[in-house]
Amino acid sequence: MLSLRVTFLFVACNILLRLKRLESINLSGNNFHKSIISCLTALPSLKILDLSLSSSLGSYFPVQAYASFRYLEVLDLSYNSFVGSAPSPIQALSSLRALSFTYNKLNASLPDHGLCELKNLIELDLSYNMMHGSLPQCFNNLSSLKLLGVSSNQFSGILVPSLIANLTSLEYIDFSHNTFKGSFSFSSFSNHSKLEVIRFLSNNENFEVETKEPIGWIPMFQLQILKLSNCNMKMPPGLLLHQHKLRRIDMSQNSLEGQFPNWLIKNNINLELLNLTHNFFGSMPLYRNANMRWLDMPGNHMIGIIPDSIPRFFPNMLHLNLYMNALSGVISSSIGELSKLWILDLSGNELSGEVPKGLFTNIPRLGFLKLSRNKLHGEVLSGNLRWGNIQGVYLDSNHFTGEIGIKSK
Ligand SMILES: *[C@@H]1O[C@H](CO)[C@@H](O)[C@H](O)[C@H]1NC(C)=O
Ligand SMILES: *[C@@H]1O[C@H](CO)[C@@H](O)[C@H](O)[C@H]1NC(C)=O
Ligand SMILES: *[C@@H]1O[C@H](CO)[C@@H](O)[C@H](O)[C@H]1NC(C)=O
Ligand SMILES: *[C@@H]1O[C@H](CO)[C@@H](O)[C@H](O)[C@H]1NC(C)=O
Ligand SMILES: *[C@@H]1O[C@H](CO)[C@@H](O)[C@H](O)[C@H]1NC(C)=O
Ligand SMILES: *[C@@H]1O[C@H](CO)[C@@H](O)[C@H](O)[C@H]1NC(C)=O
Repeated sequence: MLSLRVTFLFVACNILLRLKRLESINLSGNNFHKSIISCLTALPSLKILDLSLSSSLGSYFPVQAYASFRYLEVLDLSYNSFVGSAPSPIQALSSLRALSFTYNKLNASLPDHGLCELKNLIELDLSYNMMHGSLPQCFNNLSSLKLLGVSSNQFSGILVPSLIANLTSLEYIDFSHNTFKGSFSFSSFSNHSKLEVIRFLSNNENFEVETKEPIGWIPMFQLQILKLSNCNMKMPPGLLLHQHKLRRIDMSQNSLEGQFPNWLIKNNINLELLNLTHNFFGSMPLYRNANMRWLDMPGNHMIGIIPDSIPRFFPNMLHLNLYMNALSGVISSSIGELSKLWILDLSGNELSGEVPKGLFTNIPRLGFLKLSRNKLHGEVLSGNLRWGNIQGVYLDSNHFTGEIGIKSK
C-alpha cells in the first residue's frame, strides 16, 4: 500500500515538475496528502500558493519546505490544522508579500526571529489561532505591512508604541480578542497616514484605550472603521474630533456617559453603523444623516420619551435597538415613518399607551418587532396587519388585549 502511494506521488511529482513556468496554483478546499507540499517545492517559478482549507495537511508545515519557496509571494495556509508557531526557518521565504495562517491551531508564542525578517510582507494574518506570549518587538521591522491581523489569539503583554511606530504603511490593524493589558495610546500611530481600519474588541478588563491624546496631536489618517469595544473608555477618544470619513463606529461596552456627542454624526456624513451597546448615554444621537442604517443602544441610561424626530434625522434606518433603557411615555406615531425598518427593538423600557398604527401598516420590510416588557396596552393584533416580511413579533409582558384579525366595526 505504502509503496503504491509513494509511487503515485513520485509520478505525480514528476508531472508537476514539468510545469516549469507555473506561477500560481490554487489547491484550496481539497484533501491532498501532506506530501504534496514537498512536491510543490520543486516548482521553480511558483509565486502564489493557496493551500487553505485542506483537511489532510497534518499538524506541521514541513520546515524544509520553507527554504525551497524562495520566490513565493503569496502563501495561504488558512483553515488548516497546523500547530506550533511560525518557526524561524520561515524567514527563507524572502519574497513573501502575503501570509495567512488564520483559523489554524497555532498554539506557541512567536519567536523573536523569523517572521520579522520577511521585510516585504504586506499582509500578515495570524488571527483565529491560540498563540500566546507577547508580540515580538521586531514586528516594528515589518515596515511594508498594510494589513496586520492577530485577533482571536491569546497574545498578552502591553502594546507599547515601539511595536507599531514604524509600521507606517498600515491600513488595517486588528488586535481584537486577546489578553493584552495596560493602556494603549493612539499616538502610537503618529506617523501613520494610511490607516483606515482599527479593530480593538477587547475581552478583558486589564486593557484600556487612552481617550486623551497628547496636546496638539493630530492624526494623519482618516479612518473608515473604528471598533473599540470594552476598552475601558469613559469618554469618546479625542482622535474622533479629527475623523471625517468614518462609516462604522463600535464603542460598545464602555462607560461613555451624558449626552451623545452629535458632532460625531455631523462630522462623518458617511456614517452608517453606530454601536453604543452597554454604555451610560442619557440621550440618543440626533443629527440628520441619511446614510445611518444601524443604531445599537441597548443597555444605556436613556430616560424620557422616544424623540419623535428620529425619522427626520435618520430617514433610512434599518435597525434601531433601544432595548433596556428607561424610556417612558407613548411610542410616537412618527416611528411608523421609518419606512425602511427591518428590526425595531424597544423592549425592556417603561413605554405605555397604545402602539402606533403605522408600525403595523407602513413598514413593508419589518422583520422583527420587539416590544416585550413594557406597559403597553390596546388591541395590538386586531387591526390591519401589513407585515409581509415579519419573522418575529415579541409582545410578552405588556397589557395587550383583544383578538387577532381585522376588527369588524
Ligand atoms: C483559491 O480558490 C478559493 C476558492 O475558490 C478562493 O476563495 C481563493 O481566493 C483562491 N485563492 C487565490 C490565491 O486566488
Ligand atoms: C500545541 O498543540 C500540540 C497538539 O495538541 C501539542 O502537542 C503541543 O504540545 C502544543 N504546544 C504548546 C506550546 O502548547
Ligand atoms: C530590524 O531591522 C534592522 C535594520 O534592518 C536590523 O538591524 C535589526 O536587527 C532588525 N531587528 C530585528 C529584531 O529583526
Ligand atoms: C524605525 O525605523 C528607523 C529607520 O528604518 C530605524 O532607525 C528605527 O530604529 C526604527 N525604530 C524602531 C523603534 O524600531
Ligand atoms: C514619527 O516620525 C518622526 C520623524 O521621523 C520621529 O521623530 C518620531 O519619533 C516618530 N514618532 C513616533 C511615535 O514614532
Ligand atoms: C454591538 O456591540 C455588541 C456588544 O459588544 C455586540 O454584541 C454586537 O454584535 C455589536 N453589533 C454590531 C452590529 O456590531
